[in-house]
Amino acid sequence: MKLCMIGTGYVGLVSGVCFADLGNDVICVDNNVDKINLLKKGKIPIYEPGLSELVIKNFKNKKLNFSTDLKKSIKDSDIIFICVGTPTKKGGSSADLSQIYKVSKEISSSINKFKIIITKSTVPVTTGDEIEKILSKKNSKKKFSVVSNPEFLREGEAIRDFVYPDRVVIGTNDKKAGRILKNLYTPLISKGASYLQTSRRAAELIKYASNAFLATKITFINEIANLCEKTNINVEDISIGMGLDKRIGSRFLRAGPAYGGSCFPKDTKAIITTADKFKTNLSVIKSVIKSNENRSKILLDRINRILNRKIKNKIITFLGVTFKANTDDMRDSSSLKMIPWLLKKGAIIKYFDPTGYKTEFKKFKNVINKTSIKDAVHRADLVIIHTEWNDFKSINFKSLVKGKKFMIFDMRNIYSASKIKDQGLKYFSVGK
Ligand code: UGA
Repeated sequence: MKLCMIGTGYVGLVSGVCFADLGNDVICVDNNVDKINLLKKGKIPIYEPGLSELVIKNFKNKKLNFSTDLKKSIKDSDIIFICVGTPTKKGGSSADLSQIYKVSKEISSSINKFKIIITKSTVPVTTGDEIEKILSKKNSKKKFSVVSNPEFLREGEAIRDFVYPDRVVIGTNDKKAGRILKNLYTPLISKGASYLQTSRRAAELIKYASNAFLATKITFINEIANLCEKTNINVEDISIGMGLDKRIGSRFLRAGPAYGGSCFPKDTKAIITTADKFKTNLSVIKSVIKSNENRSKILLDRINRILNRKIKNKIITFLGVTFKANTDDMRDSSSLKMIPWLLKKGAIIKYFDPTGYKTEFKKFKNVINKTSIKDAVHRADLVIIHTEWNDFKSINFKSLVKGKKFMIFDMRNIYSASKIKDQGLKYFSVGK
């Protein structure tokens, strides 16, 4: 099939490359000329394990191409995936759909034969209806079908999540489009992915409800972790014990810092706005947002107590500053809340991140980027393990900085307390 991916961000690029690898002819379009030129040279604008190799392979064998010519790319394709950003509106909480509607207008003037137009970006319920209205102004309804096909991939695991998804959700009542799309996804369905065809609005909501539910699970265990700390219970035992109940499941029950990233914070807010529009109170999700916003304060209070309320002039090292491991994404990372607060209290921050220097901290004088774990930990009073990269999972802290005693706050519960204590270091973790 001839596919056109509009937008070469996470969703567009990963899906485009993976569809090409399944044997489709894919053109990825973006209005950012520099980005497209880089992609043509095999240079990937994001950090995603395995992505670069797949781009180079499929570009070389001409299954994948890149372009800035939106009109031609639409005309040449059978299926158009809209993968542009839907960030939170500035100063608000609803999704900014301006890029979606701009692209829809461009599609509208380039429809030359039957096309399936798909929203793969996360879009609020009824966005598909709006796109259909835009397209209907210039085109007969026989010429297009607007479908919702939400993407469920995680940053850092994106290729595997695309190739081995738990489910493929197709939102359409159009039989022809449903048949074509089932065909497109057959290679994944035959490997075990469940296939669900539902209404377009339901597919749109499935995506938001899924992200909101996962955010709820994390927030739930984070609050339980707070109780564990007060009652001398290990939260990991609780996660295991709860997770063994198949109705609950063990995934996304790891306590840690506030959830972050480009999706959970944005989507939990956006689903509230949608519900408000339809006069429905999503009180559980509202509390999740509030609890998550408060999470960094709770962890900062813990840091304050670990340092005996003497933060001034203390060297605090962050191992990892992104919102989670295996990504270079800083969006809504809890480090963006914690580091400025610690600086205000007079701390000196050093950080090492496997994905390197972060411009987000450029404006702060007392934030120093180090290019190795050893340099970052040198002279530290407190080392905070903020993300769960493999690089941080088997550090011999004692041999790393001979003679210097520092404390460790393991926000991802990577280490066993007894092993670190054997190295003569004070160790703190979450929910224990
Ligand atoms: C999330 C969803 O997991 C994907 O299914 C979805 O497709 C994606 O959003 C999206 O909407 O595009 P992502 O934001 O890449 O994916 O990252 P996650 O792995 O879900 O992690 C989100 C946050 O939750 C991170 O801050 C992570 O550290 C935290 N987390 C996750 C926990 O604190 N505990 C856990 O047990 C799991």
